[in-house]
Amino acid sequence: MDNYVRIFDTTLRDGEQSPGATMTSAEKIEVARALAKLGVDVMEAGFPAASPDDLEAVRRIAVEVGNPTDGSHPPIICGLARAFQNDIDKAWEAVKHAARPRIHTFLATSEIHMKYKLKMDREQVLDRVIQMVGYARSLCEDVEFSPEDAGRSDPEFLYLVLGEAIKAGATTLNIPDTVGYTTPDEFGALIDGIVKNTPGIENCIVSTHCHNDLGLATANTLAGIRAGARQAEVTMNGIGERAGNTSLEEVVMALHTRRPVFNLATGIDTTQIMHVSKLVSNYTGIVVQPNKAIVGANAFAHEAGIHQDGMLKNQLTYEIMRPEMVGVTQSRLVLGKHSGRHAFKTRLSELGYPLNEAELDRAFERFKALADKKKTITDADLDALVADEFYQPSEVFVLDGLQVACGTMGMPTATVRLRGPDGAMHIQAAIGTGPVDAAYKAIDAIVQAPSTLLEFAVHAVTEGIDALGEVTVRIEGTNGYRSFDAQKETERSRTFGGHGADTDIIVASAKAYLAALNKLLVVTGKYGSAETSATQGLTAWSRKE
Ligand code: KIV
Ligand code: ZN
Repeated sequence: MDNYVRIFDTTLRDGEQSPGATMTSAEKIEVARALAKLGVDVMEAGFPAASPDDLEAVRRIAVEVGNPTDGSHPPIICGLARAFQNDIDKAWEAVKHAARPRIHTFLATSEIHMKYKLKMDREQVLDRVIQMVGYARSLCEDVEFSPEDAGRSDPEFLYLVLGEAIKAGATTLNIPDTVGYTTPDEFGALIDGIVKNTPGIENCIVSTHCHNDLGLATANTLAGIRAGARQAEVTMNGIGERAGNTSLEEVVMALHTRRPVFNLATGIDTTQIMHVSKLVSNYTGIVVQPNKAIVGANAFAHEAGIHQDGMLKNQLTYEIMRPEMVGVTQSRLVLGKHSGRHAFKTRLSELGYPLNEAELDRAFERFKALADKKKTITDADLDALVADEFYQPSEVFVLDGLQVACGTMGMPTATVRLRGPDGAMHIQAAIGTGPVDAAYKAIDAIVQAPSTLLEFAVHAVTEGIDALGEVTVRIEGTNGYRSFDAQKETERSRTFGGHGADTDIIVASAKAYLAALNKLLVVTGKYGSAETSATQGLTAWSRKE
């Protein structure tokens, strides 16, 4: 058994199944590029049979990210397929363009799934696995098979199914704890049993795929790895169905930080972790909790006096990893009103944002306006500013002006000016229960994309009265945009996240709402070929390697 753990990232498939995580094709491609730069070995780019748009997004990732032109080693691009010929055909159609394609097919093996979901008995399941793994292998040399709900499956039946999948051509066997039910001891024992009892397993890679329903996903994954798994399926920030999937950053940093315990390596460039975490959070609208291991805002903050004292004497007293190792820069106070364009550009590129000249002009203008209002500009401010300016879905409608009147003396009123997709200006005024409500009503009157606001959150980027406010919203289209869920075999309603940042939180709120509406318009195709124009209009910075 080798000592290399392959990192299989499924942010774009399992992660995108989380409520609100809907990404446009253009965003998916940006995330895929960032994941490739991070050094993931395999990326599951989507479920191509879900819809023609899903297939197209996976195909584009296979073409554009699966064939690097800079001489770098391409990641394997994988497409998910149920154990149906049509799904497998669609997955192959999408991934075949990659230099290293993979088809991942799955079928449930637990009694409860077989009886109630599949309505199939053991023999039928076994037959289907042999047929469909064999069919996938006739198309693609790299085939992964997952016995869904393996965590609750009879191990003896699993050995049989996996052995037959190997004979039919599977090269990776992924063991999902689909419902996050197992404990680390149990999951480790499951992998150990599979490694010891499955005929032909020595020629395959065993993989883990753990959900986090009991908060044990990382522990289970590490137990599986210790028992012999050499691929870990993970997502950035741990996003995924329900309580999420295993966090990429937690598994990678555990293996890295406790190298003497595990004696295992990954190919991840850990200094890219923070950058990819922010990208995923901004594009999905799923905020990272402050105390989240590795990537949370407080992960490297030392508040308590006793800790700070210890840190000053020796950082290792309270820090088991250096923040720089995961791409967290330490400088708090970086720039101010008198900082020039060169210093600004240098700092942004240190933070991982090599903007081109036109983008730099735009960002610098924003920076100067911010520096007029705020004395000190920190890295967090710069992150928020860049996210607000560039990590936005293609702008169908752009906020051009906003005026509100509110207080205790009259009715909250907002006047909004938006530039529409045709370049024309639209002005609308509305009253509401408060200034944000009024602004949203005015925006609704112009955009005409009926939706329900599901979540609204404001937080200050830094301390102080002049802090930038960052707003995150999640909306659902009233006419219900639905997509197909491969595992549950049902349609589900998709929600859309948006974020905005400004020293004025009403402006930030309007931007966040507009970003979510723009995403809804793009993804639902209300603006014709918006997905295509979004891609063409993409900023180039995250693509520059
Ligand atoms: O959780 C799960 O079982 C899955 C499979 C499709 C691998 O996501
Ligand atoms: Zn899953």
